[in-house]
Amino acid sequence: MNGERGSWGSRLGFILAASGSAIGLGNIVFFSANAYKYGGGAFYVPYLIALFVVGMPIMVLEFGLGRYTRRAFPEAMAQVGGTRAEIAGWFGIFNATIITIYYITILGWVFGCLIGSLGPLWKPAQLEAFNLPAGALSNAMVFFFNMISRIDTVFWVIIVWIFNLIIVLKGTRSIEKAVKLFVPLMWLMMIVLIVRGLTLENGIQGIFLLFTPDFSIMRDAEVWKGAFSQMFFTLSLGFGIMTTYASYLPDDADDINNASTVSFMNCGFEFIAGLAFFSLLFTFSIIPKASTLSMMFFVVPEGIAHFPFGVMIFGCIFFLLLLFAGLTSSVSLVEAIISSLIDKFNWSRFRTTLLVGFLGVWGSIAFALPQVVDPGLDSNGTLGLSLLDLFDHWAFGYGLLIAGLLECIFLGWLFDLDTLRAFINKTSWFKLGRWFNILVRYVIPIIILSILAASVLEEYQLKLYGSTMNNTLCPKLYLIVFLIWLVICILIPITISHCRRPRHRDNQIETSL
Ligand code: TRP
Repeated sequence: MNGERGSWGSRLGFILAASGSAIGLGNIVFFSANAYKYGGGAFYVPYLIALFVVGMPIMVLEFGLGRYTRRAFPEAMAQVGGTRAEIAGWFGIFNATIITIYYITILGWVFGCLIGSLGPLWKPAQLEAFNLPAGALSNAMVFFFNMISRIDTVFWVIIVWIFNLIIVLKGTRSIEKAVKLFVPLMWLMMIVLIVRGLTLENGIQGIFLLFTPDFSIMRDAEVWKGAFSQMFFTLSLGFGIMTTYASYLPDDADDINNASTVSFMNCGFEFIAGLAFFSLLFTFSIIPKASTLSMMFFVVPEGIAHFPFGVMIFGCIFFLLLLFAGLTSSVSLVEAIISSLIDKFNWSRFRTTLLVGFLGVWGSIAFALPQVVDPGLDSNGTLGLSLLDLFDHWAFGYGLLIAGLLECIFLGWLFDLDTLRAFINKTSWFKLGRWFNILVRYVIPIIILSILAASVLEEYQLKLYGSTMNNTLCPKLYLIVFLIWLVICILIPITISHCRRPRHRDNQIETSL
């Protein structure tokens, strides 16, 4: 069976693939943006608590589930909890599909900037769509807004989709090849950027800024919410990815060791990215806006533009780093979708890959459409970006947490968690005690429920999210996007789960469970 579904050639291949999935755009810029917003080093406290209390336990759970069932996420859930659990599994996959679709659009923009960093990105230019005085925006900002207001961005998006499809075409074999190249290169490029950052005059001072904690922020519920939902995103949890990747592992894999290695690699990367960018920002007195997109496309490039030499080279390194980190993340979900469909419908990999690519590319193009509706720029500038923001609001803000909650409920309450725990312990050096049950059954669900409740309350108390946006399209769009999200994540999963499952060539699992 392993041969049919594919399996990792080595443990290293798996670790590189799983850490490649975890290390993505979020790690490179998000941490710096948030650490700056939420009191420098003090952000580490909620962050580390989120890592140990929620992140690592859920990763162990997802790895264990994949190895136990040897199926991609929805089928794996179906095997431990029947049709209802399968619906929850597809919910996770479709919710993550939405995230992947706009994540690939962002990667298309990264690709455009990579090409731009060979020259035009650093040169002053006129902002085509608006009459702003020269010098009102940095060169990188002008380049970015000009780029996303042109139709040719769609071309970059299609190219990134093609990269994704090529990497997953041969399943684990091709993914393993890609991650063996991209992940080490990613680390290398990050190290180059740190050395550059720290050797800038005053670069070290930036690090002090990062480590001068303002503990008062810990009273702010938003900080905790930020840390916990980011932990899901950064570790690729609630996407169904880790279960799918673990389903290709051999019988004797150590889930706890693997989960610790992947989480530490992920958080280590995030940490050193913080060092690189804080030194750079401090040296050039740039105040980071706490948004991942502006860090990526405006703030860091602006810093690089100030370098005394090698602007083009360091610019290319930065955008290549983003592209590699993003690709190894996006392929993990494209693989999770393909593998889920193959496990459910027994389709061929080639056809499934083409189908997923064909449908997905239209979605990513929709996010890249160059309709400039908001010349204020503060709230992002284009319909594409507003749409992206709205989908992100539901799929990232709520969807990932809901997927994690459903996982804990099905595995913790509706399935005999002790069986899974014993299965994980059998091949692990570190043994999970009964405390693990308490975490999965009570602690994590209570944390997730509190965050969700706080978010819903905020949604109603403060304002309808859409009305905070500058353009009139948004309040309506806000509801439309919500409905689309519901249809994609609930109606389609219910329908798929009720489709009859073609008999698997191998039904050992069904009988052995
Ligand atoms: N962990 C990634 C990050 O920090 C996010 C991610 C992982 C992702 N897999 C993905 C995003 C698949 C979109 C699609 O950036």
